[in-house]
Amino acid sequence: PAPDGVSPDPSAVRVIAHRGSSAALPEHTAEAYRLAIEEGADGLECDVRLTADGQLVCVHDRTVRRTSDGRGAVSAMTLAQLAELDFGSWKSPGDPRRSAVLTLEGLLELVADAGRRVELAIETKHPTRYRGRTEAELVRLLDRFGLLPKGPERAADAQVRIMSFSELALHRIRRAAPAVPTVYLLERRLPLLGRTRALPGGAGIAGPGIELVRRDPGLVPALRRAGHRVHVWTVDDPADVDLCVELGVEALITNRPREVLARLGR
Ligand code: G3P
Ligand code: CA
Repeated sequence: PAPDGVSPDPSAVRVIAHRGSSAALPEHTAEAYRLAIEEGADGLECDVRLTADGQLVCVHDRTVRRTSDGRGAVSAMTLAQLAELDFGSWKSPGDPRRSAVLTLEGLLELVADAGRRVELAIETKHPTRYRGRTEAELVRLLDRFGLLPKGPERAADAQVRIMSFSELALHRIRRAAPAVPTVYLLERRLPLLGRTRALPGGAGIAGPGIELVRRDPGLVPALRRAGHRVHVWTVDDPADVDLCVELGVEALITNRPREVLARLGR
């Protein structure tokens, strides 16, 4: 049984597609997110960055070098410049189809058109750089799409959560949109984590990486005893899926949603 004595139910674990179905298709593209929805993922994870003209785009790295045919920092390029690049050919060389940069707005439209409820786990990157502009634009867009919970009573089943490794970013989100659930991402165990009820940044959910969970088997039980919900990334290996189920993890973030859903019997 899990630390709270409740037997784990694999079918209750939420499966969130990390950068879309990104083992199969180029990460953070509309194609990868559509596939994740088709595969039955409960939700989609994405990283957002601000362009030079203030648009939020779904790109993980500081520069476009790894995932496109261009060069340069996302923050130094306008959306029009990014739109000229191909974000697909790095993954499938020789494939003549192009993949456009995906804006957060485009991702929200895709979710709105999914025909079923699809959760969103949005991570803000480089929060210290823009003095809150990233968070402000994120909250503005979520509001436009009706995705901001109206009060704390609705936060528990909110469709969207915002994640960050940065305490500062989490505080900003809480100030801008107090009812949106936030996830504190962590790669290392913090000294008091699990012994106190509060997570850094006032987050309601803890988001440890799977390496940390493997290395420190007491971590998830300690977090759960302290009353925290736990979402683990990036869980692709079947043995890690089983470990997370045993530990009572609420959500798994994975590059391989189809395989993880099958492992959970769904
Ligand atoms: O879901 C959290 C995880 O995505 C954090 O790491 O580097 O993949 O953004 P990274
Ligand atoms: Ca991420």
